[in-house]
Amino acid sequence: MPTIDVIQGDCGTVLKSFDDASIDLIVTSPPYADRRKKTYGGIPPEKYVDWFLERSVEFLRVLKPTGSFVLNIKEKAENGERHTYVIELILALRKQGWLWTEEYIWHKRNCYPGKWPNRFRDSWERCLHFTKARKFKMNQEAVMVPMGDWADARLKSLGKNDTVRFDSQVGSGFGKNIANWLDRPMAFPTNVLHLATECGNKNHSAAFPQSLPEWFIKLFTDVGDTVLDPFVGSGTTLKAAQLLGRNAIGIDKLEEYCEMSRRATGTQMVLLQEQKPYGQTNQSKTDGFHQTKHPTISRKKAAKSGRTEAHDTVGPEKSLPIQGKTPRNSTKPRKATA
Ligand SMILES: C[S@@+](CC[C@H](N)C(=O)[O-])C[C@H]1O[C@@H](n2cnc3c(N)ncnc32)[C@H](O)[C@@H]1O
Repeated sequence: MPTIDVIQGDCGTVLKSFDDASIDLIVTSPPYADRRKKTYGGIPPEKYVDWFLERSVEFLRVLKPTGSFVLNIKEKAENGERHTYVIELILALRKQGWLWTEEYIWHKRNCYPGKWPNRFRDSWERCLHFTKARKFKMNQEAVMVPMGDWADARLKSLGKNDTVRFDSQVGSGFGKNIANWLDRPMAFPTNVLHLATECGNKNHSAAFPQSLPEWFIKLFTDVGDTVLDPFVGSGTTLKAAQLLGRNAIGIDKLEEYCEMSRRATGTQMVLLQEQKPYGQTNQSKTDGFHQTKHPTISRKKAAKSGRTEAHDTVGPEKSLPIQGKTPRNSTKPRKATA
């Protein structure tokens, strides 16, 4: 049964109580500098890199060596040109110890129509993929796509170089044999994700569609792995992870978004009665509350950070609380003795 954990606070501080190398995937969309400063605050672009590095140093520590960090972000245009803070951030993250393994593009299939004097509609965002090592977990088969029309057109007209392994003419060391793909129904995808921007949750001004974290969770984790979203907002990543049978932890500095995430995933606030070693559950005899201790937060560290009072667990079979209402069971929390 996957566990879902929602924690309120600044992710840089909250993560200090997490164990090293305990997370399989970090997938997140942070504040895009000061674009939403009226809703949840913002960071001026000139200060963004320093602000981010203070937090990503914790991401680096808690991520497993086989893990991935996917950062969905897009720089705004200001005074007639694109800001460069994201490019500066990529360079700074490399210096911090990350490998900039890939850049995926989220192509927003349904972006709004509009007219600007010096550019066209912005219909894509970056999904920067960082890792700690060159070899990392990647389930490529999990995101294969139907071969589609490309095969009909391209494979009908195979040239002489297509039926043998054809080595790159520019000396890249790569080669291909297109005929190998004849009669295959599925192909590996490209690094461009064509996803609509719609999302079920209209209560958060900057939510991404659930299909976005879903794709990366399938690609970079297995069932039972742990996914972290340190800027969780309305809980989209947690929902995706829950559906796919992964454990998930979401952090947001605003309590209202933590509540939104809990509602989205049907998690309940409960008080920890007694901490048991990971793997054993605390099953209350009296009220049926059920708590598990998350593997990523050690008891000592949790106590130090004051994070012993609340923990949310969820199972797929648990019914969702009615939107806007406190779950019935949570009105009488158990007294914390730990
Ligand atoms: C772009 S939104 C995330 C939206 C999310 N992907 C979703 O689908 O709802 C960024 C979130 O980061 C939160 N945030 C900003 N600074 C934070 C910090 N230092 N620590 C944790 N959360 C923070 C904001 O409150 C906001 O909800």
